[in-house]
Amino acid sequence: MGFGRGKVILLGEHAVVHGCPAIAVGIERGVTAEAKPASRDLLRLSPWGLALEPDRKGDEPLERAFAAALALYPERPALEVSAQVDLPAGAGLGCSAAIGVAVLDAIDEALGIERSRTDLAEAALAWEKVFHGNPSGIDNTMSAIGGVALYRKGDALVPLRSNKPLHLVIGYSGESSSTKEMVASVRRQLESDPERVNKAFQGIEALVRNAKLAIEAGDHVALGQLLDLNHTILSSLMLCTTKLDEMCQAARKAGALGAKMTGAGGGGCMFALAAKHDQALRLRDLLGGDSFVSEVSA
Ligand code: MEV
Repeated sequence: MGFGRGKVILLGEHAVVHGCPAIAVGIERGVTAEAKPASRDLLRLSPWGLALEPDRKGDEPLERAFAAALALYPERPALEVSAQVDLPAGAGLGCSAAIGVAVLDAIDEALGIERSRTDLAEAALAWEKVFHGNPSGIDNTMSAIGGVALYRKGDALVPLRSNKPLHLVIGYSGESSSTKEMVASVRRQLESDPERVNKAFQGIEALVRNAKLAIEAGDHVALGQLLDLNHTILSSLMLCTTKLDEMCQAARKAGALGAKMTGAGGGGCMFALAAKHDQALRLRDLLGGDSFVSEVSA
């Protein structure tokens, strides 16, 4: 069974596209997939009821991504791949990357190909490029490898170690957004006002470096404050929505150590950092909807 996990970027989204480091975690929820020889290539996606043929020039990005994935296997039988998606799409949890990783992992398994999770992450970049044009690579890397890690484009992933698990509560605003558009919007801002946006990136980089130390020291109070500050900088880049702000405020008011939007923004998800498991459960109930708790060990 192929598997690609979802991810939550703790700090550093967007700046990571421009060469800054980011910290992310892999979560338990993700995408499973199975591949088997068939009479023609087909990608089935549940629970969406989609059955797609690969098409390099198709209108649907998933058709183009499937074509890009199959092109990595020049000699192979026709394959039917069935994927089960357990992540909201367009919500900042790395759904598209998780599908790509799961599909490639399933094809590898069906063809008896063995490769490391690092190589699988690299292969899945071909899939991600279809969706975002210029992805940093953080989504496919975290989807394949997981854990808690510091990522910088072009560098090896640096796993972070701590003896204290992170109690995260992930809340979905119900607003879906396009990573491609949000990344393009930051690029436009960078081009029109480089001083302001580069300052924002420098600020984010400083927060990421301090967050690494806070995670390693198990200082979640400090980590929470750094999350709040990162949220403010992302707001200044016009990536937050009123709904995401309200959810973060509500979580902080209810005692969360920190809260921020995660991923591309313009909708999608936020998360809150809780001090303990029972507080995480209370925050989940407060945020309601499709919110869920994820406990991650560094
Ligand atoms: C999307 O999950 C994270 C972004 O930083 C884009 C990327 O890193 O490719 C917004």
